[in-house]
Amino acid sequence: MPDVNAFIKQLPDGHHLYCCGPDPMMRAVRDHAEALDIDRVHFEWFEAPAAQAGRDEPQGDASGFDVRLMERDMTIHVPPDLSILEALEQQGIDMPYACRAGICRTCEVEVCGGEPDHRDFILDDEERGSGKTILVCVSRSNTDTLDLKI
Ligand code: FES
Repeated sequence: MPDVNAFIKQLPDGHHLYCCGPDPMMRAVRDHAEALDIDRVHFEWFEAPAAQAGRDEPQGDASGFDVRLMERDMTIHVPPDLSILEALEQQGIDMPYACRAGICRTCEVEVCGGEPDHRDFILDDEERGSGKTILVCVSRSNTDTLDLKI
C-alpha cells in the first residue's frame, strides 16, 4: 500500500485528486482525506462500498416517511423497508435508474421541501449541504415529509 497520507498531504492548493480503484484503496484515501480535512478528493465507486453501506441508520425513520410528488399532486408513503424509488415503482411511477446503489446519479431528483437524509456515495459535501437534490434509490428523509419534483 502506498503512503496515502503523505500523497494527500502534498496535494498543492487548488489541485483536486480523483480516486478510482479497489475498495481498500478507496477507503484508505477517503479516511486520510477526511482526517486531513481535505475536500478536494473525489471518488468514483463502481459499486456501493461494503464498509459504508448502512453506516448511518435511519434517523426517525422507523415508521417511514411521506413523499409529496409536487408535479402529480399526490403523496406516497415510504415504509422503512423500501427505498423511495421502490415506493414510487409500487405506485406505477417509472423513474430513471441505473445502479440502484447511490453511485451513478441517474435517479437524481429535485427537492422542493423537507430535509434529505443522503445515503449516496456520489454527491459532494456542498451538494449534500444544499439539500436541493436527492438520489431516490438509496437516500431517505430526516423529516416526516419530503417534497420532490416528480
Ligand atoms: S440509480 Fe444510480 S444513484 Fe440512484
